Amino acid sequence: MYKKKHNKIREICTTFRLTIEEKNEIEDQKKYYENSRSVSIEALKIVQKKRGWICDQAIYAIAKILKINPSEVEGVATFYSQIFRQPVGKNIIRYCDSVVCYITGYKKNEIFLKDYLKIKLGETTLNHVFTLLPTCCLGACDKSPVIMINDNMYFNVTPELIPNILKSYK
Ligand code: FES
Repeated sequence: MYKKKHNKIREICTTFRLTIEEKNEIEDQKKYYENSRSVSIEALKIVQKKRGWICDQAIYAIAKILKINPSEVEGVATFYSQIFRQPVGKNIIRYCDSVVCYITGYKKNEIFLKDYLKIKLGETTLNHVFTLLPTCCLGACDKSPVIMINDNMYFNVTPELIPNILKSYK
């Protein structure tokens, strides 16, 4: 299973090419920024939008089109937590592990989520539906503990509420 999955990842990476649409979208972004380096976050988002994650070859392809060093694109990709450098599930569950959520009990949610989804932190479920990631403060401390699934926030979350929340994601 592990070998099969990683062969597939390798295949995606070695055959990677930017599409014409992606190239055009990236070129289009150049007019909004002063330098190519600043365009790289938009370029990463454009590539990730359809492909779900950013492989090494995508980093090189973006660097080439922006005429900058691949290490600069890699630096941006690593800095932004919204950019994924490995395959993720269709839905990203982020739970806040900052101090207020700690006090109000995010740990119980974390334990429940790992157990319920049968994965560890940073992993993706076997059916590729969910990836579980911790995150820093989501800015809703007064309604903690907080989890976010894709762009949707859930407040005052307890383990009892989680199965119902997850039901709407497939
Ligand atoms: Fe969790 Fe602020 S500490 S939302």
